[in-house]
Amino acid sequence: MATTETFQITPEQAELYEERFVPALFGHWVDAVLDAVGVRAGQDVLDVACGTGIVARGAAERVGATGHVTGLDLNQAMLAVASRLRPDLPWRQGDVAALPFEDDSFDVVTCQSAAMFFPDLVGALREMGRVTRPGGRVAVQVFDLREDQPAYGPWIEMVARHAGEDALRMLGTYWVLGDRDLMRERCAAARLRVTAVHDYERPASFPSVEAMVHTEVNATPLADRLSQAELDAIISDSYAVYEPFRTEGEERLTIPLTGYVLVATPE
Ligand SMILES: C[S@@+](CC[C@H](N)C(=O)[O-])C[C@H]1O[C@@H](n2cnc3c(N)ncnc32)[C@H](O)[C@@H]1O
Repeated sequence: MATTETFQITPEQAELYEERFVPALFGHWVDAVLDAVGVRAGQDVLDVACGTGIVARGAAERVGATGHVTGLDLNQAMLAVASRLRPDLPWRQGDVAALPFEDDSFDVVTCQSAAMFFPDLVGALREMGRVTRPGGRVAVQVFDLREDQPAYGPWIEMVARHAGEDALRMLGTYWVLGDRDLMRERCAAARLRVTAVHDYERPASFPSVEAMVHTEVNATPLADRLSQAELDAIISDSYAVYEPFRTEGEERLTIPLTGYVLVATPE
């Protein structure tokens, strides 16, 4: 399960991530994550691998003035955007492999669309459990397996044909934790007791096919791995791949996307 892909992007890409990718896809999962652990007023929440802070901002609304939300990410560029949007919240640079917090610091720890990028998943889960108070909750959201994604699956196969192994490693990583049994095993190894697994379908919605490709490429580590000729070929073939998912006469592209939120508590 080890991966070398850690989703590291530049400041310009982090801005695009917030402007394009968050409204198209990542923003759709926030309520699922926060509902799964019942984030409420007065709680202390840590959002691990917070990116530009979409989950942390949602949590801050829920915990209100009596609670606290902290966002942590490896990537300073992501944190710079998060901090610009919510300068009042604490944003910490750090690695989930060694969280810079005392044991039992938080009521809730969330981690959205990021666990697949952790090279040592069990170590990361153990750290999330360590900083969670007894009786507290950890919520990890990931996507289902690539073969279970009717739109993203064929699209990635097509991209791989044009762009090769390097692009495939990046695009393939999103889906590697789709196996719920494997996640349960990893949680058990990290001494986290799984209390619930919630399934969700949250379609991704882009202004157009071309906008989808530009977002997937330019707001992610893919940008450095594709030539202009490869990008042009991918845009052209994307129209064919997405044909079954488009409404005639409409430019907007809405594609199915499924995943789950696992809830666990420290043993
Ligand atoms: C796809 S983004 C998801 C960001 C955010 N949770 C969201 O839903 O928009 C993955 C994030 O994981 C972060 N990340 C990857 N490895 C990490 C690690 N070892 N520790 C902390 N953050 C990490 C990346 O920097 C990136 O911001």
